[in-house]
Amino acid sequence: MIAEYRKMWEARNWMKRNEPFLPTWQAYVGYRLDLFEKLAGGATIESLVQEYGYEENLLRSWADAGVVLGHLKKEGDRLIPSKKMLKFFSQKSDDTVGELLKELFEMHMPALMNYPSMIESNQKGTFNGDDFSKTVAATSALIEKRAFGHVLAEMSAQKPHWVLDIGCGTGGYLMKLAKKMNQGTFVGVDISKDCVEEAREKAMEKQLDDKVKFYYADINTWDVPNGLFDVVMMNNLLHYYSPDARGDLFTRVAELVSKRGTVIVITPLYLEKGGQRFSAAFNSFMEAHDNLHPLPQKEALVQDAASAGLKLKSVKTVVREGSWYCMSFSKK
Ligand SMILES: C[S@@+](CC[C@H](N)C(=O)[O-])C[C@H]1O[C@@H](n2cnc3c(N)ncnc32)[C@H](O)[C@@H]1O
Repeated sequence: MIAEYRKMWEARNWMKRNEPFLPTWQAYVGYRLDLFEKLAGGATIESLVQEYGYEENLLRSWADAGVVLGHLKKEGDRLIPSKKMLKFFSQKSDDTVGELLKELFEMHMPALMNYPSMIESNQKGTFNGDDFSKTVAATSALIEKRAFGHVLAEMSAQKPHWVLDIGCGTGGYLMKLAKKMNQGTFVGVDISKDCVEEAREKAMEKQLDDKVKFYYADINTWDVPNGLFDVVMMNNLLHYYSPDARGDLFTRVAELVSKRGTVIVITPLYLEKGGQRFSAAFNSFMEAHDNLHPLPQKEALVQDAASAGLKLKSVKTVVREGSWYCMSFSKK
């Protein structure tokens, strides 16, 4: 009898543990179909069904969950989204964080749910960066906002003439720096053609193309003079390299950076205090793909850098609970 009761209690606890997931799901669906925006425009469930051919019962149950959660308010036939949901989950809002939920539901969850079959079949998936380049760029930009102060502080101390960003993505760090610094040439290199094209377009739009240059190349083979750069950045790049290849990457970086130069590395660190849960989940995602690699551990990263002649100067927290850090190194 007691065993039965304990079993029921355990089941109840696991049910309750999953309940906090409901708001994330409701927000994700609302963002993906831009339902908060559509409802704010005066639509009703009936009008959305008519206009977009949506399945009515699914839409109603999504809306009911929204009302229960306070994401939506019922006024007659109309459902009014809260100001917060409109601000953060309308596709056109400048403040939207919807891509973060898209990353969670469409990249991370499917990978985690495939674990049983991947473990059994000894086969990992392959991450298709092109499908999710916009999503990854949007979520990286959130980290960029938090990390930029640390990067700017390093640059202001160094007063560099030449700055290199390896794996620059769409060039966010470099363009922000070019605006803030009154000297220097800012160079980005990325292996993704789409990213480089978008970065170049943005630089033209912002009239920064004389100070910021982007190159489509693989850093391992890119032909550029050694010792040219006063600052070299590698932001969120290390998980594209296997742990065995990271030593060579640091050696390449140490060649590129000038004598008294600085190397900046922004990265999530595996199982760092405060961010253990997040980094364990993020690392599980990396491990699920044959073309991504485990997150670096701090000691191994510092060791790889030291073997290449780079000495750790500082470690600054970017997002503690996310295990994200900004590390800087100087040439020994
Ligand atoms: C996660 S994104 C980070 C973008 C940006 N640094 C940021 O932190 O927002 C990593 C980038 O590294 C690029 N990358 C990966 N391997 C590379 C290589 N060998 N050479 C140049 N870029 C590379 C990828 O194409 C991708 O755009």
